[in-house]
Amino acid sequence: MGMKAIIVKDQAAGTTGMKLAERPEPQAAINDVVVQVHAAGFVNTELGWPSTWADRRDQDRTPSIPGHELAGVVTALGYGTTGLSVGQRVFGLADWHRDGTLAEYVAMEARNLAPLPGDVDFTVGASLPISGLTAWQGLLLHGRLQAGQSVLAHGAGGAVGSMVTQLAREVGAYVIGTGRAADRQKALDFGANEFIDLDNDALEDVGSVDLVFDVIGGDIQKRSAALIHVGGTLVTIVGPAEARPVDGLAVDFVVESDRAQLSEIVQRVRDGRLRTNIGAVASLDDAVAAFNSTTRRAGKTIIRVRP
Ligand SMILES: NC(=O)c1ccc[n+]([C@@H]2O[C@H](COP(=O)([O-])OP(=O)(O)OC[C@H]3O[C@@H](n4cnc5c(N)ncnc54)[C@H](OP(=O)(O)O)[C@@H]3O)[C@@H](O)[C@H]2O)c1
Repeated sequence: MGMKAIIVKDQAAGTTGMKLAERPEPQAAINDVVVQVHAAGFVNTELGWPSTWADRRDQDRTPSIPGHELAGVVTALGYGTTGLSVGQRVFGLADWHRDGTLAEYVAMEARNLAPLPGDVDFTVGASLPISGLTAWQGLLLHGRLQAGQSVLAHGAGGAVGSMVTQLAREVGAYVIGTGRAADRQKALDFGANEFIDLDNDALEDVGSVDLVFDVIGGDIQKRSAALIHVGGTLVTIVGPAEARPVDGLAVDFVVESDRAQLSEIVQRVRDGRLRTNIGAVASLDDAVAAFNSTTRRAGKTIIRVRP
């Protein structure tokens, strides 16, 4: 059986190389489930990641289907797969090295999915895995954030930064959000105690902080590292930390799926402690145009695969 999917073949073409195509429906391997995708998320930088183009043995795997976040319904179970059932609503984060979620169906390991409660829309479910898990793991596991500490949350109006801001406030931290001038109000609405416009304000004026959550890298990362208290942490998700704070700890990590953490995150969305940051919603037929839009993204673009 065939299905509709977005494919990429040419790394140099970036998002302009995305095409809507017909692909075979995926089969469930051991420990996999097949999920009928209702909504999917895509991170623009993933077309720069080696895993989009090659498998774990570094063999070309194109044409590949991008997108790693999804919410949908389980339609088949692979051999030996337990914990999920056919017909169950789920959401989660698919393997970086396998065909992804910008498709009508995806095969993925069951452990990378969590149940999606019936009162949470698929569009909302698909917006949570990468930004929610990244914020959770960066602040709580790698950053060991404590109540009363201060956090410099870069890109606080963006997908990850808005989750970082909200979770850090929930923990009881003081949050200094950063980003573009246009995102000042948005960052404050997500709970930042103050905001630094990186184009016009002096980052150095924030004084010292306990934790920097870096989503930008480069010079901003280097200048932020210099602001960290002795014993504080620089958590970065955009490549190796170039400057390591004296006597401190710099953590450079890639988000992993985790069923228990996904459940914690979606529970917070249900009870209002976390608000998701969705910009545009487009159909699979309009996905290529949505990812090639020239207007500035205000939040995540979600592809509603099934209406
Ligand atoms: N390692 C991991 O596990 C992991 C997980 C998730 C994401 N990531 C990476 O983290 C980065 C952020 O992801 P995201 O989904 O949060 O992206 P996003 O929604 O675009 O958020 C980034 C925010 O930071 C702002 N920003 C970036 N550079 C800036 C600068 N120089 N000055 C001021 N503001 C700046 C952006 O504004 P503009 O749009 O105006 O630039 C945007 O508001 C991406 O590179 C992504 O690939 C890594």
